[in-house]
Parts: sequence; structure tokens; C-alpha cells
Amino acid sequence: MTATAATPAPQVQAFFDPATWTVSYVVFDHAGGHCALVDSVLDYDAKSGRTSTRSADALVAFVKDKALTVQWILETHAHADHLSAAHYLRKQLGGQIAIGAAITDVQNVFKAVFHLEPEFHPDGRQFDHLFQPDEVFAIGDLRAQALSVPGHTPACMAYQVGNAVFVGDTLFMPDVGTARCDFPGGNAHDLFQSVRKLLALPGDTRLYMCHDYPPEGRDAAWVSTVAQQRASNIHVHDGVSEDAFVAMRSQRDAGLAMPTQILPSVQVNIRAGAMPPAESDGRVYLKVPVNVL
Ligand SMILES: [Fe+2]
Repeated sequence: MTATAATPAPQVQAFFDPATWTVSYVVFDHAGGHCALVDSVLDYDAKSGRTSTRSADALVAFVKDKALTVQWILETHAHADHLSAAHYLRKQLGGQIAIGAAITDVQNVFKAVFHLEPEFHPDGRQFDHLFQPDEVFAIGDLRAQALSVPGHTPACMAYQVGNAVFVGDTLFMPDVGTARCDFPGGNAHDLFQSVRKLLALPGDTRLYMCHDYPPEGRDAAWVSTVAQQRASNIHVHDGVSEDAFVAMRSQRDAGLAMPTQILPSVQVNIRAGAMPPAESDGRVYLKVPVNVL
């Protein structure tokens, strides 16, 4: 079964966060119908350790304005560059928080990195639903499918909804290329295969990016098509071999600094956007492991 079979075209509203270059989405069947929220952002000021819900509240306002019922709060992966607002959004709007089932691999790695409390169980229970590869689900009248696309992380999922695919960090806009593969469990060979899988979809399939890092002189953008990516993605256009891609990716990744928000992001995102439990003074703390990353 494919997600494109006899499903109406989804309506998509994008929300760009210039602080983290992240694009969040509301994908819905029709006004008054059902929606999924994809890759939401909880604003975080690294200097002060303060969070804010300004970005998330824009999604809340849109959902209320369109009178939508939230069915799903989807994460394409455990992001390393922004905190997820999934926990906050579920409280405001309801819906099930879902991510790929291999999130347990990521939780195991980072439970050790952050020496998390024994009560943190790396079995995915922090999420309401764990998608298996190719699992089919519904967003109101829309048929959707979780496509396993490991490489950037081992748990990455892309979500196909009708003729639209929310690709997470498998692909960026054609002039930016692809995401790094050097986080724990990342693998450039896997990413190449995942990208080729997405680019085997029909040429007019709309691909929605999770990020844009626009080069000087162009505005931020977040939607392209399979045909555009195959013709002109600077890293993976048609004709680039797996070996050439892996060599390019490995060389680039070796020169990249860690994302500014990786330490707070991962601690919150492996908890489905929830903060760690408060300590005995009633306050919440995030950790910084020294000389580990
Ligand atoms: Fe990412």
C-alpha cells in the first residue's frame, strides 16, 4: 500500500524559525478537519537557559483559527539543533507524539552520554507511538506513511502524506545539499540509500525540508520536488555514486562544529520534548558533559 493511493492532497502551512533555521509544519485535510504537527520548536535562549513558547504558540493559533483537531505531533528524529515543543503542544492541543521506533537506539546512547537518572527508560515510552518502517496511518481523510530514512540519525523517519513528504534532515534545498552524518549512529552510506529511496518517488512529489540555510542572496525556502532534487542537489543529484557521496560527506563532517543547542536539545528531545524531572529544590537542570562530545 502506498500513501498516494486515493488520498486527497494535503494542505500544508509552514512556520520558519530564523533562530534555528528550522521549518515546522501543520499538515491538514481541510479547515475544521484533522492535522499533524511536524517538527515543532520550543524556543531556547542558550545564554540564559530560558525557554519560550513563541514559535509553538504560532502553531497553536493556526490550529485554532482553522478549527483543526490535532491527531499527531510528529518528530522526524531527535533533533540536535533545537528543542521540540511536542510536550507543550500536546498539553495545549492534544494529539499523539510519535517518532521512529529506532529512537530507542538514540536514547540508549544519550542516556550514557548524560548519565541520566535510573528512572529514564530508553525504551521509547516517553512517546505515545513509535512508528515501524513503512507503517501506514491516517490524518483525518489523508493517508500517511512513515518511511524509514536512517543516515543523519539511525531513527530518522520521513512522513509521506499524499503527494507530500516531510523529509526531516535527509535532504536540504538543492543548493544546500544534505545533512551531516557524524552524530552517534549516523552513517553516510545509509543516508545515501535513504535519499535514493525518496528520490525514487514520482518527480512531482513535493518535498518539505526541516531546515534551510539559505546562501547569501536568496530568501529562506523549504519546498522542492523530487525532479528538482534529482536534477540539481549539489550533493546527491543523479549520477553521484555512493562512494563519491560518502567521501564528500565524511570530509565535510570532519570540519563541522557541534550545533549550538545540541546539549540541551538532545536531553529534551529524547524525552519527547519534556524537561528532565525537577531536582529536590523544585528546579529543572540540563547537564553539560565535559570533554565527552
Ligand atoms: Fe537533525
